[in-house]
Amino acid sequence: MAEKHFKYVILGGGVAAGYAAREFAKLGVNPGELAVISKEAVAPYERPALSKGYLFPQGAARLPGFHVCVGSGGERLPPEWYTQQGIELVLSTEIVKADIASKSLTSASGDIFTYDVLIVATGSTVIKLSDFGVEGANANNIFYLREIDDADKLVAAIQAKKNGKAVIVGGGYIGLELSAVLKLNDYDITMVYPEPWCMPRLFTSGIAAFYEGFYANKGIKIVKGTVAVGFDSDSKGDVTAVKLKDGRILDADIVVVGVGGRPLTTLVKGQLVEEKGGIKTDAFFETSVPGVYAVGDVATFPLKLYNELRRVEHVDHARKSAEQAVKAIKAKEGGQTIEEYDYLPFFYSRAFDLSWQFYGDNVGDTVLFGDNNPESPKPKFGSYWVKDGKVVGAFLESGTPEENKAIGKVARDQPPVEDLEQLKNEGLAFASKI
Ligand code: FDA
Ligand code: NAD
Repeated sequence: MAEKHFKYVILGGGVAAGYAAREFAKLGVNPGELAVISKEAVAPYERPALSKGYLFPQGAARLPGFHVCVGSGGERLPPEWYTQQGIELVLSTEIVKADIASKSLTSASGDIFTYDVLIVATGSTVIKLSDFGVEGANANNIFYLREIDDADKLVAAIQAKKNGKAVIVGGGYIGLELSAVLKLNDYDITMVYPEPWCMPRLFTSGIAAFYEGFYANKGIKIVKGTVAVGFDSDSKGDVTAVKLKDGRILDADIVVVGVGGRPLTTLVKGQLVEEKGGIKTDAFFETSVPGVYAVGDVATFPLKLYNELRRVEHVDHARKSAEQAVKAIKAKEGGQTIEEYDYLPFFYSRAFDLSWQFYGDNVGDTVLFGDNNPESPKPKFGSYWVKDGKVVGAFLESGTPEENKAIGKVARDQPPVEDLEQLKNEGLAFASKI
């Protein structure tokens, strides 16, 4: 049982950890000062690839191709990069105990890591159907997707059950991205979700109508307004069917479940102040305990633009919060301060040849514009959210880089609008002229 001390420890080895390590290297870190501890067996990578390119039937993305920081146009950081920088990458190591008072972490095998400064970057875990006691939910070939190991198991099953039937439980990000990529793998797909339309946390009914129509045209069946209440399996324990609350039974060779995530804060429970399900931080991602920072999915931080505390489960924020925390740590050491985090929420998704981006806040009245007919050869549409007479959010499907930049600027600048009908008629032109 070893005991090791580092000046800085990043707990977690995902997106935020990788971007934090790069920022440390940029700002200067001596060999042996920094460790990244991850329960995954691989160096930090761009997690969004797992539900997209990683599952393609041909030309699938594989490591080292998508290690951070390629996702935001930077250079890839393969494992050798950490060695060259003198950064210790402690992989396949799960931390099972964090003692914030004594500044020490204990791994599952009993190793102890002590630190001066800690960055908690443990991300999220999946909510499981077995958490709600759904009968038969532990059958084989029922998959969740969070880490590369999960994706590898899914890839093996896609090959083993070739051209089979897949039921996708959940109508959020995972549900929409996985249905599309499994369809590309020639699976017969049925999606099941309880709400009246997909992605209700972000999509309006008008936005959702386009994607549901598009998916239906691809042959994907959608069952709404009900949930999975049980699974049947054969003598080998392989899933064979999904039982729905409304009595229907769907045959299945593979089931993918995406019913939401939960931030991994258990290690620090009772030791750091929490808020809105995450670890509460200031605008520099420092928690209630000085010298302990939290970034990415686990952080509940002041979102300056809306003057409220928020938690964001998306990759852009994971990258930027990590950079902000490291800048703040380094500035503090030099007796300096940096600007407060001033984040504009940015979410995106890609499926089939579709690609959307959203910036800002999805509150207030909505205005749908453009061509959202799923039958169109080149559909292009969007939505604005208008609150207190100002545009506060904007969504665009199939935008060019310039157009996406324009909707981002609208959400940031929050221009006033008087007439929603006129905004609808102007559509994208409204954003382009800001
Ligand atoms: P992240 O989950 O990346 O990393 C956490 C790390 O901590 C993991 O390596 C984990 O193993 C490790 N860890 C946790 N507990 C530990 C412990 N006790 N000991 C050691 N290590 C521990 N977002 C987006 O904007 N666009 C997109 O297209 C996608 N696509 C997407 C696909 C899929 C499949 C997922 C699961 C998620 C996305 N996301 C996304 C969300 C995005 O990936 C997510 O917000 C970031 O990865 C969050 O970064 P973090 O570093 O906070 O957590
Ligand atoms: P989500 O919150 O986006 O969607 C969960 C969905 O589960 C809900 O919309 C609902 O339709 C459904 N649901 C809830 N209970 C259900 C039940 N009992 N039966 C059937 N359906 C049920 O979560 P997710 O799609 O699981 O994604 C997990 C995490 O990964 C999130 O943090 C998400 O932000 C992240 N992610 C993001 C992207 C992206 O940004 N493009 C892509 C993939 C994953």
